Amino acid sequence: MNKILVIGAAGQIGSELTVELRNRFGNNNVIASDIKNACEDVMSGGKFEVLDAMDGKPLKEIVIENEIGQIYHLAAMLSGNAEKNPLKAWDLNMTGLLNILNLAKDGVVKKVFWPSSIAVFGPTTPKQNTPQLTIMEPSTVYGISKLAGERWCEYYFNKYGVDVRSLRYPGLISYKTEAGGGTTDYAVEIFYEAVKNSKYECFLNEDTVLPMMFMPDAIKGTIELMEADSRRVKIRSSYNMSAVSFSPKALSNEIKKHIPDFSMAYKLDFRQNIAESWPQTIDDSAARNDWGWSHKYDLKSMTEIMLKEIKKKIHVAV
Ligand code: SER
Repeated sequence: MNKILVIGAAGQIGSELTVELRNRFGNNNVIASDIKNACEDVMSGGKFEVLDAMDGKPLKEIVIENEIGQIYHLAAMLSGNAEKNPLKAWDLNMTGLLNILNLAKDGVVKKVFWPSSIAVFGPTTPKQNTPQLTIMEPSTVYGISKLAGERWCEYYFNKYGVDVRSLRYPGLISYKTEAGGGTTDYAVEIFYEAVKNSKYECFLNEDTVLPMMFMPDAIKGTIELMEADSRRVKIRSSYNMSAVSFSPKALSNEIKKHIPDFSMAYKLDFRQNIAESWPQTIDDSAARNDWGWSHKYDLKSMTEIMLKEIKKKIHVAV
């Protein structure tokens, strides 16, 4: 088997994806990499390489040395942080992707996964049931970089036959590794604060609805897309992908069912504007029809697991 390289294995998605890929394909067949050490599960479960995807030469060397056939390229700067450092975000989000697409173009790797985001949409996009094909005028540098990345992916597929696959992730919620620097991060932070202090100060307005997904669904969908027969992968820019949509208030109410004295305060910051520019619900019928995407977790089941796991984690840490 051609081995798999995960770039960004210390991040929110990478830390869980690496473990699941190793479960499925064997520890020796999945190499993790990042600019910094990843969590214990990733570090102890198989090979780890320190790698900056912006640096093409060591990237190519690691790919060749390890007989890599597939790359999951997850390293990126998220929406909130990108607004604070737009040109750095553009450079980081684009250079790594182009390095990897070029390795695929030259036949060094066979298949590439690259994540896009609901951030490719903007204030002029229809907000409800946002179609796969629609107006895309993102107003954040993160969204601009993801939209440009999608165009590059499709271009490399059409022009050079590169087998690149992508998903437009909604806000991802997980308990293993925190995200950092994103607009949807409130929906992770809230669980930690609820368990620790029974209160949370939210940087988004109480009725700001955003599309969200529990990490196990995102991981399952990502691997299913990569394993699908290439004839079923009809969209080579990026697929809309959806699970649940909710507001901070709805999430707070769900948490209150488990922690009755939980309270929310609201102190909006610049991320409110970002959130308002994004869709509220997503039409992902293309992913469901083309390669069989489906999600499992709703707000209720996700909240139960998040609270249970974070309680365990914090208990252990104390
Ligand atoms: N979760 C991301 C962010 O908030 C969106 O893709 O930046």
